[in-house]
Amino acid sequence: MSILLTGGNGYIGSHVAVALGLAGRKIVILDNGSNSSINTISKIETINRAHVPYVFGDIRDMKLITKTLREHDVTAVIHLAGLKSVAESIEKPLDYYTNNVEGTISLLKAMNSQGIRNLVFSSSATVYGTPRQLPLDETHPTSATNPYGRTKIQSEEILADLARAQPEWRIACLRYFNPVGAHQSGTIGESPKGIPNNLMPIITQVALGQKSQLDIFGTDYPTPDGTGIRDYIHVMDLAEGHAAALQFLESHAGWHAFNLGTGKGHTVLELLESFEKASGISIPRKISPRRPGDVAKCYANVDKANRTLGWAANRSLHEMCSSTWNFCLNFPRTTTCTSPH
Ligand code: WQD
Repeated sequence: MSILLTGGNGYIGSHVAVALGLAGRKIVILDNGSNSSINTISKIETINRAHVPYVFGDIRDMKLITKTLREHDVTAVIHLAGLKSVAESIEKPLDYYTNNVEGTISLLKAMNSQGIRNLVFSSSATVYGTPRQLPLDETHPTSATNPYGRTKIQSEEILADLARAQPEWRIACLRYFNPVGAHQSGTIGESPKGIPNNLMPIITQVALGQKSQLDIFGTDYPTPDGTGIRDYIHVMDLAEGHAAALQFLESHAGWHAFNLGTGKGHTVLELLESFEKASGISIPRKISPRRPGDVAKCYANVDKANRTLGWAANRSLHEMCSSTWNFCLNFPRTTTCTSPH
């Protein structure tokens, strides 16, 4: 019996693969390589000391998904495959709807055809839109300010309708806050293809001398130091949250949503200071105008996940920064740390 990880070779997926392996689960990875490197599979196998079957393909290929579900005796799916750049989704909305929504529907159809109805879905705090109150709990209304967020809301709603129509479905939507960091081995980490949008990979580019300075998008927010506040969570804590959700679904049917964050917010400058301490490198920065679409503050109420999943994030901001830097230094590289390894 295996757990299928769609997008399991990516940044979050590879860490989920390690967390599940360490929890003694058998996994199979399906990934189309659009934002991952084939080398990651062998790194997951080294950490897990186990073979990890890898299927190269797209979640919209229903025939391939059905074949994979059957051949690997899959009993549950963790669905991580999808596009995730807010900025890119504004430029290319159709790519986002076909990959994220159409892809989810084709996966669900394939699962249904095989009688597999346990699903952990990779969702995002983006579904909350502009927070009306903080910390954000799962009852906060959802609203999207960009196509990426809309694809996550629509996917969650499709899953909720499915669970209403077929009560035997067991579904956990995990709303990620801001994943950063890397596995302690330093062999897997965040290495997005192309130009990163997120703060941490941009900081590491500056630290590695591949970008001259960090633009700080706005210092006039209503926060202690004027810069944006986010709930940064270590990617291994996030990954362990997936294992806990899988365990929960083994005894709970229906549709459930959980925030995966730390419950604490940190400003851009606080993260920067923590990174400089962890790496010993000072990061040149420039104060720039606010980035359109950014919210001032976003951090989670994690009581529900703590209480219901028996899960809590416990790795510190320092560990997030030191593990990131360890991953970046671990590879001789001629190009940026964000290039595929
Ligand atoms: C964090 C903070 C910026 C870059 C995330 C993910 C996005 C989606 C939604 C996926 C903000 C500031 C950033 C820079 C900066 N997640 N910043 N200079 O905005 O929470 O979006 O959630 O589900 O993919 O990115 O994260 O890392 O982009 O920004 O000052 O060069 O850093 O203004 O305050 P965000 P982020």
